[in-house]
Amino acid sequence: MRSVVVARAEEIAPGQRKIVEVGGRSIGVFNIAGRYYALRNRCPHQGGPLCAGFQFGTLSAQRPGEYDHSGPGEIIRCPWHGWEFEVKTGRSWFDPERKRVRSYPASVQDHVDTYPAHQRGRYVVIELGP
Ligand code: FES
Repeated sequence: MRSVVVARAEEIAPGQRKIVEVGGRSIGVFNIAGRYYALRNRCPHQGGPLCAGFQFGTLSAQRPGEYDHSGPGEIIRCPWHGWEFEVKTGRSWFDPERKRVRSYPASVQDHVDTYPAHQRGRYVVIELGP
């Protein structure tokens, strides 16, 4: 597992995202309510820039006329044809077991020796896998 520093934590405020290039891959890094998530910026449908899409929450109803909004920013819609995915898991909304986009573990670390400027601070780190 390869750890890569992608941003200072304060660069990606809650509700924001940053798209980075790492090892030849475009990856979107998201801050949802103070936690970080990373998704491959390549839609599994036809390769669209998924992480540039619109983010929104879920809407459910237990009975007609009563709506429950939750998870703001947890769903992202591909800007090309509208396929939707969970930012936290990469699973598609329409077929979560079979259609998904690659996700990467992301976290905040207080100090990272590999950051180019060798500065102390809080950094967002993603794990790229083998
Ligand atoms: S390329 Fe993303 S929905 Fe078609």
